[in-house]
Amino acid sequence: MKILITGGSGMLGYEFDSNRFDHEFIKPSHREMDVTNISQIESILKKYQPDAVINAAAIINIDKCEEEKGFCFGVNRDGVKNILEAIKSTGLKNVKFIQVSSSEVFGRLKEGEYEIEGYSEEDEPRPVTNYQKSKYDAEKILEKFAENNPSLIGGSYIARAGWLYGKGRRSFVDFMYEDLQREEEVIIASDQWRSPTSAEFFASSVISLLDDSRENGIYHIVDEVKSGEATPKDVVEEIQRFLNESAKAKIKEVYRKDIFKTPRAPSNVLKNTKLQSQYWRESLRQYLNSIKI
Ligand SMILES: NC(=O)c1ccc[n+]([C@@H]2O[C@H](COP(=O)([O-])OP(=O)(O)OC[C@H]3O[C@@H](n4cnc5c(N)ncnc54)[C@H](OP(=O)(O)O)[C@@H]3O)[C@@H](O)[C@H]2O)c1
Repeated sequence: MKILITGGSGMLGYEFDSNRFDHEFIKPSHREMDVTNISQIESILKKYQPDAVINAAAIINIDKCEEEKGFCFGVNRDGVKNILEAIKSTGLKNVKFIQVSSSEVFGRLKEGEYEIEGYSEEDEPRPVTNYQKSKYDAEKILEKFAENNPSLIGGSYIARAGWLYGKGRRSFVDFMYEDLQREEEVIIASDQWRSPTSAEFFASSVISLLDDSRENGIYHIVDEVKSGEATPKDVVEEIQRFLNESAKAKIKEVYRKDIFKTPRAPSNVLKNTKLQSQYWRESLRQYLNSIKI
């Protein structure tokens, strides 16, 4: 398949590589194909005529999304609309479309209203912040377009991610891996439950949706966590164990409200009820082994 990736220079985009998967990936840079620019999207679609699109372009900075609402919605919500409209105007047919979404759509920022056990694909999103709303709106846009244009969209998938780490960009895991080896204090939120997930695993699950021509719909693509597990502290302690004696830093736990400017949900654990997954500690160890010098 010829697969167009938006956000190809990002952490997730990095994982879509022809050396790994038996597909051709087209990865225009942000400058070559800005998802806010319909004529740029149309010329890329005309040139490459992709069989599938994976939309991984996004503004993921939650604080920036709160500060610059128009910018955030322009990319995260209107980006998908622009690509879909360009599919229509260029006359492409039967394109498979994957919209990369987020556990953030579940919102529920207040104490007492969240699910520590996690959310399944059927649970109701209740987005609150701009980032959350923009990601949820994008899901709805794809669903509606696919329903109204069955000949244009040959498969529509919403792939929700949890808390990604991978080699395409430095993330929490890489920062902690380095900080723990220094004689300093590592500060983490104690009142949060997450779904740490390897971007490599996420990408291969996304490709499997296309390869297996799965049913249209929502997929939670996350590594498995046990109930109440995978707090930032659990993740840091796992890295600490991996580092063994080279872990020198002390861990200091604070509350979410002490480190995040924009309020964060206590839990954004996802339950993956449709696809195979791996236990998060195993995935994390594999990743740490792969970055170990
Ligand atoms: N990282 C996570 O933990 C996480 C969790 C849940 C969901 N997700 C979702 O996963 C997807 C990928 O995230 P990521 O972590 O790979 O993000 P990332 O590393 O920040 O990459 C985002 C990509 O989008 C591109 N981009 C931004 N604005 C664009 C625009 N207007 N037009 C075209 N490209 C644009 C960026 O290009 P430049 O850098 O050149 O601007 C970059 O290549 C996003 O949909 C995100 O919402 C991520």
